[in-house]
This record gives sequence, C-alpha cells and structure tokens, in this order.
Amino acid sequence: MKVKAVSSPGKITTIEKPDPIAGPDEIIVRWKASSLNYHDYLVATGAIPVPEGRIPMSDGAGEIIAIGEAVKEWKIGDKVMSLFFPNWTEGKPSLAKTSAIMGETVDGCLAEQACLKATAVTAIPAGYTFAQAATLPCAAVTAWRGLMVEGQFQAGQKVLIEGTGGMSIFALQLAKAAGARIFATTSSSAKAERLKAMGAEAVVNYKEEERWGKSIFKLAGGGVDHVLDVGGGSTMRNSIEAAAIGGHIASIGILGGGRKGEITFPKLFFKHLRMTGLAVGSRVMQQNLVDAINVNKLQPIIDKSFSFEEIDEAFQYQASGQHFGKIVLAF
Ligand SMILES: NC(=O)c1ccc[n+]([C@@H]2O[C@H](COP(=O)([O-])OP(=O)(O)OC[C@H]3O[C@@H](n4cnc5c(N)ncnc54)[C@H](OP(=O)(O)O)[C@@H]3O)[C@@H](O)[C@H]2O)c1
Repeated sequence: MKVKAVSSPGKITTIEKPDPIAGPDEIIVRWKASSLNYHDYLVATGAIPVPEGRIPMSDGAGEIIAIGEAVKEWKIGDKVMSLFFPNWTEGKPSLAKTSAIMGETVDGCLAEQACLKATAVTAIPAGYTFAQAATLPCAAVTAWRGLMVEGQFQAGQKVLIEGTGGMSIFALQLAKAAGARIFATTSSSAKAERLKAMGAEAVVNYKEEERWGKSIFKLAGGGVDHVLDVGGGSTMRNSIEAAAIGGHIASIGILGGGRKGEITFPKLFFKHLRMTGLAVGSRVMQQNLVDAINVNKLQPIIDKSFSFEEIDEAFQYQASGQHFGKIVLAF
C-alpha cells in the first residue's frame, strides 16, 4: 500500500509498505479522507518532532475492509472514523490512555490502509460523506468537550469563539444548535460577515482591537459564560477579560505564538472563573458527538479539499490562514 511518511523534519514523502493484516481484536480500515488540524501542521513542519517514517495526520474516515476473528462490534463495509487518542476509550484521561496520539506518537491516517484496535474508531454520523466525517475527530470532539463536557453548557448561555479555524467553527455550530448566544473574534472583515451569517451576535477584530476581551465583555452585557481559548499566551488575558463572573474558559490552543504568556491572577479568582486545559477527548465523547450530530444534522464547513498527493499544497494553504472551517484531503 501507498503511505505518506515524514522522511525528515518538515518533509513528507510517499513510500510503499506491505498491506496490514488484522490480529484477532483488530480491524483494517481503508482510509478515504483526512482533514488538517493545527497539530498536523506542527508535525508536518517539524515543530513537533516525530521519528523518521511516521505517518502523519490524526484524523481519518474510511471503510472497514477486514476484521479479526474476535471483533464483534464491526462488520466489513462499516464506515468509521479515527480517534485522536486511540487508547482513550472512556473515563478520565491518564498517561496510559493518552500517550498514543495518531499522527505523532503512533502512525496516523495519511495511508491507504491502517490496522487498528477495534475500539480505536467510532461510527461516522448518518448520511455523512467520508470527507465530512474526517473533519470531526480532533476539531469537533475538542469543541464538544470544551462546551458540553467540561463547560456543562446550558441553553441561553453566551459563548465566545476565537478565530475561524476548524475547532472554532465547530464550536460555533455546536453551541448554536444547543441554543447559545455567540460572540466571536477574527482578523478578517469578510470572515466577520460569515460569522454573523452563521449566527454570531457580535464579532470583534482581534488585530484591530488590542483589548478585544473588554469589547466582548461589554457587547455580551457583562461577559460570556464560555470561552474557547485558541491562543494561550497570545489570547488568555483577553479571554479572561471577556469572561463573565463564574464563567468557564477551555484552554485549547497556542495560536499566535502563545506557548507561554502572562495572566493577571486576581482577574481569574475575583471573577470566580473555572479554567480547564483540554486535549481532544475520549471515544465516548466522540460517540456522544456523533449522537448529537445525528439529531442536530450539523454540516461541517469544508473550506477546501485537496487530494492525497497534494498534502504539501494543503499545508501551505492552511499556513496562509485564508481558510474558514476545515481543510480536507480526499483520497
Ligand atoms: N487542545 C486540543 O485538544 C486542540 C484540538 C484542536 C485544536 N487545538 C488548537 O486550537 C487552535 C486552533 O486549531 P485549528 O486546528 O482549529 O486551527 P486552524 O484551523 O489552523 O485555525 C487557524 C485560525 O485561527 C485563527 N487565529 C490565528 N491566530 C489567532 C489569534 N492570535 N487569536 C485568535 N485567532 C487566531 C485564525 O482565524 P482568523 O483568520 O479568523 O483570524 C486562523 O485562520 C490551535 O492552537 C490548535 O493546536 C487544540
């Protein structure tokens, strides 16, 4: 089979590997699509080092083409999607459950086929194409966990989403479907219009307004109940400003060079804020997301699709920051 592998930091090349064979508890999946996340970009550019030969991309959707003799949950032909953490099936995270990361510490989905434990996939939502399903495992599960699991979202609450990348747009769609009032930031006036068309009540340009958190606090009439922070050190001060008393901040990303940063601690505790650091989620969380999509019929926003061979072009497009929502690879 043909796979794409990291041959040196920042370089992905095509190699041939033998077709995998399923052990008793395993399945063989023929991948049909993948999608790009910022995490994949960090692997592809060498910012997250991986061993030579590692197959990148955490997200994949495809069809089961073989099953081991002990597998009861699946049959040949079932449509499935990957898990970011293939060993985290349920319960709280632990080192054992989260040390395997698709496309980083174990092989990912930029391959024609993969051999996985039968529990390392979930069903895709009803009626979804493979490209649509491939958008979910990292970005949408993270948005789901930040809002619904850790945030304990209630209808009518106010939610701030930051920027218009894959995770944030899923957060907007999931929050809207659950009855949220949405506030948003972006660096682009054209994207601001799209955010409003999707239901954002107010949008602030984070490049034009340095203290955008204060503006969101005012626009939301006393702050928002939930913030999905994507910038860490580059956004957290503003995220704290934007939050309402008693609000929840999910610390999700480090865009804008935000690996480290300063926050004003009294604002955190005098606002009685809860902050959760989170990395994607478990298989059960992904199954709950699929259940929700089967009811709310959420349609992922796919900005652009590239082929398996166009992986470099796809990452260049992601780096340009033009996208709104997800970038996919259709095999
Ligand atoms: N912890 C987790 O489990 C988890 C899971 C998924 C993603 N993440 C993280 O979440 C972040 C977003 O991931 P993604 O895959 O959705 O990325 P993406 O699709 O590449 O999103 C990029 C978008 O983010 C916005 N952005 C860039 N710098 C920003 C800043 N300083 N402030 C606000 N927005 C900014 C831009 O939106 P505009 O063009 O609108 O300005 C840009 O288009 C990344 O840091 C990623 O690592 C974490």
